[in-house]
Amino acid sequence: MTRLGGPSVVVVEDADELGRVGADLVADELRRTPGAWVSVATGETPMGMYAELAARRRSGLLDTGGLTPVQLDEYLGLEPDDRRTFFGWMRRSFLEPLGIADERVVRLPLDGDLAAACAAFDRTLDARGGLDLAILGIGTNGHLGFNEPPVDPGAPTREVGLSTATIDANARYWGDVNDVPTRAVTTGMRQLLAARAIVMVVSGPTKREIVHRALEEPVTPQVPASFLQETGAAVTVIVDREAWGEGDPS
Ligand code: F6R
Repeated sequence: MTRLGGPSVVVVEDADELGRVGADLVADELRRTPGAWVSVATGETPMGMYAELAARRRSGLLDTGGLTPVQLDEYLGLEPDDRRTFFGWMRRSFLEPLGIADERVVRLPLDGDLAAACAAFDRTLDARGGLDLAILGIGTNGHLGFNEPPVDPGAPTREVGLSTATIDANARYWGDVNDVPTRAVTTGMRQLLAARAIVMVVSGPTKREIVHRALEEPVTPQVPASFLQETGAAVTVIVDREAWGEGDPS
């Protein structure tokens, strides 16, 4: 279903369909732009889509040889081999299954002068014309990456403190709320909103309220994903029936 002048919303019935529809969009983008720079979300929602992309690559239907993955966000304060790093999650779910070497990833800085290094990360993206595609999930508080509310749509890549809502939500990844780091770095809103295309995947009843606020209520810094209504990017939101509820997008 398409809304003119705003995000296209595709409601799917289940996780399998979400994976297939998402993989179709990403594969189309890689065919159009074989050297695409793609921001890659971790989190649970895109996992089926990544598995589907990997299956297509194994069957020779997808070429990831030119793809440059860009790290979307990462916790701070972890050792590189800690089981909780988002880079490790990205490696297991995206890089290895898609045959992409770690060295090809444009990585976020994790130490040193973070402000200067985050500015350099933004300059690297700017210099090549920004992201071709951003693959995003949405937090229960509306965050994109770790751009927590309230956020400025021009926010740069930077160090952030995680909100209680995000720490609580991330506890399911690592077992306990005390296992969730409290600080992170995130690709900034400015880069994400300037991507040529954005695919946001949304799943499950815990996202129902926020996805409707983001797409159907006025744009507000309190709901970072609501800025998707205003970007010039081609935005597709793939949302499962549990998250959308009854009815069709208007
Ligand atoms: C993860 C990320 C987050 C998640 C969001 C939804 O790299 O950037 O913004 O996309 O918190 O997470 P899930 O899909 O686990 O509900």
